[in-house]
Amino acid sequence: MRSLSVPSVGAALLLTAQLSVAQGFSITSDDEIKRTASAIAWDLLQYYHGNETGQTPGILPGPPPAGDYYWWEAGAMWGTLIDYWALTGDSSYNSIIMEAMLFQTGDHRDYMPFNVTASLGNDDQGFWGLSAMLAAENNFPNPPSDKAQWLALAQAVYNTQANPDRHDETCGGGIRWQIPFANIGYDYKNSIANGCFFNLGARLARYTGNSSYSKTSEETWDWMERVGLLDAETLAVYDGAHVYTNCTDINKAQFSYNNAVWAQGAAFMYNFTNGEQKWKDRTEKIVNWGLKTFFPKGIAYELACEEAGTCTTDMLSFKGYLHRWYSVIAKVAPFMADTINPILESSAEAAVKQCTGGDNQRTCGFRWASGVFDGSVGAGQEMNVLAASSALLYKNFAGPFTAKQGGTSKGDVNAGQGSDDSPLELGKITTSDRAGAAFITILFLGIGCGMFGWMSLGE
Ligand SMILES: *[C@@H]1O[C@H](CO)[C@@H](O)[C@H](O)[C@H]1NC(C)=O
Ligand SMILES: *[C@@H]1O[C@H](CO)[C@@H](O)[C@H](O)[C@H]1NC(C)=O
Ligand SMILES: *[C@@H]1O[C@H](CO)[C@@H](O)[C@H](O)[C@H]1NC(C)=O
Ligand SMILES: *[C@@H]1O[C@H](CO)[C@@H](O)[C@H](O)[C@H]1NC(C)=O
Ligand SMILES: *[C@@H]1O[C@H](CO)[C@@H](O)[C@H](O)[C@H]1NC(C)=O
Repeated sequence: MRSLSVPSVGAALLLTAQLSVAQGFSITSDDEIKRTASAIAWDLLQYYHGNETGQTPGILPGPPPAGDYYWWEAGAMWGTLIDYWALTGDSSYNSIIMEAMLFQTGDHRDYMPFNVTASLGNDDQGFWGLSAMLAAENNFPNPPSDKAQWLALAQAVYNTQANPDRHDETCGGGIRWQIPFANIGYDYKNSIANGCFFNLGARLARYTGNSSYSKTSEETWDWMERVGLLDAETLAVYDGAHVYTNCTDINKAQFSYNNAVWAQGAAFMYNFTNGEQKWKDRTEKIVNWGLKTFFPKGIAYELACEEAGTCTTDMLSFKGYLHRWYSVIAKVAPFMADTINPILESSAEAAVKQCTGGDNQRTCGFRWASGVFDGSVGAGQEMNVLAASSALLYKNFAGPFTAKQGGTSKGDVNAGQGSDDSPLELGKITTSDRAGAAFITILFLGIGCGMFGWMSLGE
């Protein structure tokens, strides 16, 4: 994903502000939540065309300039819908979820499909891996036995990222943003790439009972603190830093999904270690920081870009992960539930209230705290509100399951190993593509400067 790039044209505000019209969305009972989530799920899927003739299964229109959405965001959308199914019982979309999640695995069944090599980050692969992990934890229907299995896919993503070829001595550890060495952003080590790896390891440990995963996650946490991407004082999570400064040029932008991916991972570590004090303290601190920073007034707020209106298409989807992952924290670290749940409720209430836009008079915008539909529309904006509403049902959910308790997904500890998906091999592919990529980059820079002014750039 492009965590720090310019907004896409499609994310621009609609010029014609709509008058708010009262719609029927409500979250006052479980039935009302289901009714609301069902309508928004439908609206979200209007952005998906992968099940139509001649289209590619699994992806949203893109990547830019072919459409607004990078590959990772569809992976995040399937995760949102896997939660939607588990929490509401509505299986209407299960067959397209299954098709999508299996179509994009790539030849080596490790979520590194050839098509996306030129912009493939560890975070992009990580988001698909987290959705596969979620399918195992939610006990989503298993694929046919000749196909890749959810747990094995999550293990494959983990194994490729744990491989020594993704790790080097710069900055004293950590994995890089991009995977192929020739990609723009290979020189950046960031919190979302390392956060997905950390989070996945914590959850694999809990699901399988294998502490080899949690040991690596603990090392990743310690490295983040050492290098200063996790603020040792507050546990604020900063965006990233460059290897050519040995990660001393820390970009201190704070994004809600960075906080949420680390907070949820810490909660899983707490749960896996049976309540170890260190992980209890970390969970409490990072969650309290997240609630204070990203829910001022009890409503989700994207600190780094919402006020200025500079959120990119990627950033316009972060509130959804914040809501979903915090609802899971309340479950696996129950001592935080009374702190978290009321805030998720007030935030979800504000979220559904502003969905009054568009021709259908129920389209969701982005600035929930404004109290009115703000005209910013897209898959991310719908996904956020779908997440915020459906995640309120997480309280009643019996999961997340484990291999011992309720989970039925088959794993493979060696998945993803032995392929030639190394940064070096993949770099050769993207080098041959470089002229095209450079052209596209220049095109973006032109659009970004001309229309929105410069924000910041992660590479
Ligand atoms: C694609 O999926 C959507 C959502 O389930 C459905 O409404 C639509 O009819 C499907 N399109 C095709 C061509 O199957
Ligand atoms: C890769 O792109 C080609 C051409 O658009 C398409 O036919 C194919 O289905 C894509 N594969 C994946 C895994 O997306
Ligand atoms: C690079 O950064 C790491 C992590 O902060 C540190 O341990 C290491 O000593 C630094 N190396 C140099 C050469 O400054
Ligand atoms: C635990 O996970 C590690 C890392 O993937 C693997 O090497 C090891 O074989 C696993 N142990 C068991 C008992 O499955
Ligand atoms: C771990 O999570 C389960 C819910 O999945 C919860 O019942 C249990 O109390 C948690 N363990 C601890 C130590 O909080």
